[in-house]
Amino acid sequence: MNRVDQVRHISEAGVAALAPVQDYLADLHARVSEVTGGRPADYIPELGKVDPSLFAIATVDGQIYAVGDADFPFTIQSVSKPFMYGYALQHYGRLRVLEQVGVEPTGEAFNSIVLDEVANRPFNPMVNAGAIAIAEMMQGDTQDERVANMLDLFSGLAGRKLGIDNDVFNSELATGHRNRAIAYMMLNTAMIERDPNEVLDLYFRQCSVNVTACDLAIMAATLANDGRNPLTGKAIYDAQYVRDMLTVMNSCGMYDYAGEWAYEVGMPAKSGVSGCIIAVIPGQIGICVYSPPIDKQGNSVRGIRVCQEISSEFELHAFNNRTNVRSVIRRDYRADLVRSNRLRTPEERKILAQEGRKVAVLEAQGALFFGSTEQLLRKLAQLAKDSRYVIVDFKRVHLVDTSARKLIVRAARSMAGSEAELVFAAIGDDGPLDRLTRALAENEQAHRVRLFRDADAALEWCEDQLLAGAAHGFGTKFSVPEINLFKGLTPAECRLVESIIRPLVFEKGDVIMREGDDAKLFFVLARGTVSVEIKVHGSNGRKKRVASIGPGLTFGEMALLDGGKRSADVIANERVICYGLGVEELQDLAATHPNVMITILSNLTREFSERLRHANDEIAVLE
Ligand code: DON
Repeated sequence: MNRVDQVRHISEAGVAALAPVQDYLADLHARVSEVTGGRPADYIPELGKVDPSLFAIATVDGQIYAVGDADFPFTIQSVSKPFMYGYALQHYGRLRVLEQVGVEPTGEAFNSIVLDEVANRPFNPMVNAGAIAIAEMMQGDTQDERVANMLDLFSGLAGRKLGIDNDVFNSELATGHRNRAIAYMMLNTAMIERDPNEVLDLYFRQCSVNVTACDLAIMAATLANDGRNPLTGKAIYDAQYVRDMLTVMNSCGMYDYAGEWAYEVGMPAKSGVSGCIIAVIPGQIGICVYSPPIDKQGNSVRGIRVCQEISSEFELHAFNNRTNVRSVIRRDYRADLVRSNRLRTPEERKILAQEGRKVAVLEAQGALFFGSTEQLLRKLAQLAKDSRYVIVDFKRVHLVDTSARKLIVRAARSMAGSEAELVFAAIGDDGPLDRLTRALAENEQAHRVRLFRDADAALEWCEDQLLAGAAHGFGTKFSVPEINLFKGLTPAECRLVESIIRPLVFEKGDVIMREGDDAKLFFVLARGTVSVEIKVHGSNGRKKRVASIGPGLTFGEMALLDGGKRSADVIANERVICYGLGVEELQDLAATHPNVMITILSNLTREFSERLRHANDEIAVLE
């Protein structure tokens, strides 16, 4: 299936299925088909031959919605201009291109013979003079090479090989005297240097590239997508140059109609005399409308109408504000109510209930740019006033722009001297926040920011600091009577339990228990910590740590209740010493000393009910 067929296939499939955008476009197409007025351009004789009733709308964000004659080929004409301008920016940089062509709207027709004589350059790259000067910048040692490079550019943008309509090209070559006059005037003032006929040959060819409405929608979507073709994934322009292209399209793309267009439609756009208009909604979609009848300014009559309607129907005007900077704060809470996944002894829990308020967790979400970051950092400053540690959790942040990064680094620097310590979680070093991670890591010492892989690890570290500060000794080598699970056993019963205990040693990374294994032993941890991990559904075996356990605590206790299969993996985080207790041996012991099992099970019930109560309290805070 070629790409055009694929497009048709997608749109037909879309009509049958739930497709509100497709339905809307079909209605709009039918409605605007009634609009008359304008007529196809005939100053290029070949263009005058086109069927004026052709009409297509295509929009793309990777998914194509197309209605009407969306794969009918027509010449791109002036819609080639912003893309050639982007090529020049990409290959020569802003400064060099600005020397060649300005960015000032003329408010005049596309083919007006006006030049900026003060700066000695055409006013902007959207009028013919500017586009001709930009055409001179196409790289290649020979004209053939330059033509091939130009076609490669447009083919890359459309995601398929494009060619030139030779009839239109020859027609334009034969009649384009006004453009010839513009080119010679520019040669006269050294705004171009090469043979004008050669430069014009390329300019006429770029205008004669054959495209469809779908092609142009994809090309517009490439600009909406920061310069990366959404269908092929190929990067054509750097985002910084896309911004330049869109800026000039916004102010000059519709010639002497540009002001009214910006006022009513509010999308960077470009029209061509063949009757096409492209419009770009950055970050959302690219639109193309094709309908040959054009008005006096050279813009498609139905094209303008369609864009006006789409803009108002979907509120796509560039100056509509759809940003809510306050939503950057998902929630905040303190560590007295929400603890890490580290299981704690009753003594530790008591200390954390008293001291946990000194740790604040601030969950950020969405995109961090100037406005949202200012909100976030204002909240951070407020929390820092009565906290020893403030954890900022970036897990739900998908973008940090340069200004946000600078503000965050600045905040980190100014907090370095304060009472509160800054702790950052989940910024990662291979995702969208990697530049922030690097900026912070470079200055970790100077800024005193600690980075953790997730909020749980950050919280656990903060809890450990509070416990250490409360002079709580992390004991090792717990004796049986000291272990919570055995509290209430008589000294004689403790001795019986000790007689069946097996000391076990595991090295870092050892799997102490594996999900699915038979549960025959349960463990008391004497030294080191272990992690409890479960497989995350549908994640290709990725594991999530659901708890970590330290000295004095038990794990694998479920074996005592049902003796069934293990429900999680338990891994040694470091060298670990634990005591293993065989379930069968304990049951044998309980046959002669029933109080042993009763005491253990009631301790276990108390522990589980405490965990459940705390989980409920956490849910109340986190909901
Ligand atoms: O320069 C010309 O006459 C054409 N090849 C391009 C004109 C064009 O599309 C102007 N835009 N509305």
